Amino acid sequence: MARLTPPRQLEETDDCAGFDCGRESMNQWFRRHAWRNQQIDVSRSTVIRDAETGMIAGYVTLSVGHIEREYLPKSSQRNRPENIPIFLLGQLAVDTRFQGMGVGRSLMFYALKTAVGMAKEIGCYGVLTHPLDDDVRRFYQNFGFEQLPHDPRRSMIVRIKDLVRNGFDAD
Ligand SMILES: CC(C)(COP(=O)(O)OP(=O)(O)OC[C@H]1O[C@@H](n2cnc3c(N)ncnc32)[C@H](O)[C@@H]1OP(=O)(O)O)[C@@H](O)C(=O)NCCC(=O)NCCS
Repeated sequence: MARLTPPRQLEETDDCAGFDCGRESMNQWFRRHAWRNQQIDVSRSTVIRDAETGMIAGYVTLSVGHIEREYLPKSSQRNRPENIPIFLLGQLAVDTRFQGMGVGRSLMFYALKTAVGMAKEIGCYGVLTHPLDDDVRRFYQNFGFEQLPHDPRRSMIVRIKDLVRNGFDAD
């Protein structure tokens, strides 16, 4: 079993080119855009690596955004601003050679704990993601994500309130 590093921010010298999660669109995004986007401050990627080889086992990318109030369940729309602030979990992928070892779970925990920590300082409703297919939707459901009922893109969200209730603000 591979020995893995704790999550840390992507660095320029990391080998993004060798990463392969089995989904070409995500491989390409990581190779071409992850480092560049970090340099221009539009997203941050965090990686877990193989401790021996330095190979990237998985990455998660966070940025900020907003959703329309109309996307929320009707019961949550009252007395809310038109634009609801969210953290965007834009990408989460694990190299095929490291899948099924808990890397995805570790990256997700890192992302959700980071979001809860940030939300103590800057107002934010939840963590949003755009799953690529129904299989991956089940992965996100494991962590409390639910489909936004009125969003045409079928995004999924987990509320900061619910993360706090489930202990994600503990150190
Ligand atoms: C989906 C993905 C991130 C999971 O990462 P992973 O490291 O293999 O997952 P883990 O080993 O941490 O598993 C965590 C839990 O999720 C479950 N899980 C893993 N992949 C799953 C999937 N595709 N669907 C549903 N559940 C899944 C595991 O069974 C495990 O649950 P358990 O703890 O109850 O046993 C990874 O398979 C991947 O990168 N796939 C290709 C890229 C992709 O589709 N990314 C998502 C884009 S929206």
